[in-house]
Amino acid sequence: MSSRWDEISPLSDRTGRQHSYLRVSVTDRCNQRCTYCMPKQGVPAKSHDEILRFEETLQLVELFVELGVRRVRITGGEPLVRRGAMEFISALGKLSQLEEISLTTNGTLLAARAQALADSGLHRVNVSLDSLRPDRYERITRGGDLADAIAGVQAARAAGLTPVKLNTVVLPDLQPDEAREIILWCNAAPRDFIPRFIECMPFQDIAAAGTALTDLQKALQRQFALVPDEQVSGDGPAQYWRVAETGLRVGFIAPLTQHFCARCNRLRLTSDGRLVTCLGHRDGISLRDLLRGGASRDELVNAIRRTILDKPRGHACAMDNDELFPNSMSEMGG
Ligand code: 5AD
Ligand code: SF4
Repeated sequence: MSSRWDEISPLSDRTGRQHSYLRVSVTDRCNQRCTYCMPKQGVPAKSHDEILRFEETLQLVELFVELGVRRVRITGGEPLVRRGAMEFISALGKLSQLEEISLTTNGTLLAARAQALADSGLHRVNVSLDSLRPDRYERITRGGDLADAIAGVQAARAAGLTPVKLNTVVLPDLQPDEAREIILWCNAAPRDFIPRFIECMPFQDIAAAGTALTDLQKALQRQFALVPDEQVSGDGPAQYWRVAETGLRVGFIAPLTQHFCARCNRLRLTSDGRLVTCLGHRDGISLRDLLRGGASRDELVNAIRRTILDKPRGHACAMDNDELFPNSMSEMGG
């Protein structure tokens, strides 16, 4: 191999972004059908053969960790619907160089599993919680039961999978009152919960429209004394504020009105083994095909480095255009 490779740090792209964070989608299936994520009829499920076996996923994650990945997030679909997910997380827990393992889930299957997950080395969970009103929750998730999600959130808290981040996608009909309810609910345990409000990203084939956070943020600032969070907000896309009286952190994630592409540190591995470097582009090579084709370690590493080097600068979706995100969230896991 030419010495050019050796001069570039692994997992770095041409603009100098370093990628130490890998999101691993373990399934495209889900037990819910959120309006902003899936079409009503669901998505055609990938066949068993298309999906990486957990041994294959583990092999790839190990390689990424060797190259410098330090944080892994398990996503779906809903990761907990996949058989063997617990054992897989347990295997990740044994990778000593991994500093953080987290899980993004809708929480509905979490109540029975939170403690076992914590015992196997999972550090934290992010739970989708789009409303605390049972009827609206049911409408958004197309049939979900709010009580299940709440039980999951409470179990995660009890198991120490904290702080539990509660993700609320800001849909056009979300009233500031409802966002207020979520903050008040979290205020009861300000160290254990972090509510986060997320602009709705418009995806191809999905009915949801893009939303801006600006108005909601202003409305919440009128209701709560929110101060910018002094603590470093991490390297993620969220901007954090604190409720002055309780210290509760509140996050705002604005992929449409405030592009954070310039500091994006994420890589995504889809359940069928594609490496995707940007949600806004349908790129991505199939590491699965390389792996199953008998590629050597060096061949895999070179393919990974090349894909990352070519990571696009960013996505073009904004509130004032009609661009859509091409990769569905059920494939990408948020
Ligand atoms: N816009 C923004 N976030 C989304 N998610 C899923 N679909 C969208 C969308 N259209 C995020 C939610 C959910 C996670 C699984 O992915 O935050 O909690
Ligand atoms: Fe399932 Fe999460 Fe998508 Fe809702 S947002 S359909 S819970 S993967």
